[in-house]
Amino acid sequence: MLFLNINGRETAVRSDPATPLLWVLRCELKLTGTKFGCGVAVCGACTLHIDGVAQTCCTKPVGQLRGAKITTIEGLDGAQARALKAAWTRIDVVQCGYCQSAQLMAASALLTHNHKPGPADIDQAMTPVVCRCGTYPRIRQAIYEASGQKRS
Ligand code: FES
Ligand code: FES
Repeated sequence: MLFLNINGRETAVRSDPATPLLWVLRCELKLTGTKFGCGVAVCGACTLHIDGVAQTCCTKPVGQLRGAKITTIEGLDGAQARALKAAWTRIDVVQCGYCQSAQLMAASALLTHNHKPGPADIDQAMTPVVCRCGTYPRIRQAIYEASGQKRS
């Protein structure tokens, strides 16, 4: 057994240390907000925060994450997260919804490190998370709104 810090709690994990974090979250811990897309770290659907940095988790063995602070969509909290979720809702960003946990995690990490991101900053931060529904214009608008910018 190993222990991981997930959403602020020391959490016992029984899976083999070679198991990717995504499957530990979804199958063992039933934290299903983090999604499976490609399984090879290219689509971004499984993006969460590891030590405050937006990262994919479908190829990261849990055995390598001892001592790391892992935050999933279920644990995304605080004023900035509330501002993002409110903007997402008001602008009605979501289409099918599949990528949106990852989009919010990527947006949150962006605003943590850059309080007033411009278009190029947003593109750089959000491009790694593929949205098959093409919600990128609304995502950009929601990030502007959550960061208090009047841009379109
Ligand atoms: S499922 Fe992890 S990047 Fe696609
Ligand atoms: S909202 Fe459908 S994949 Fe992004």
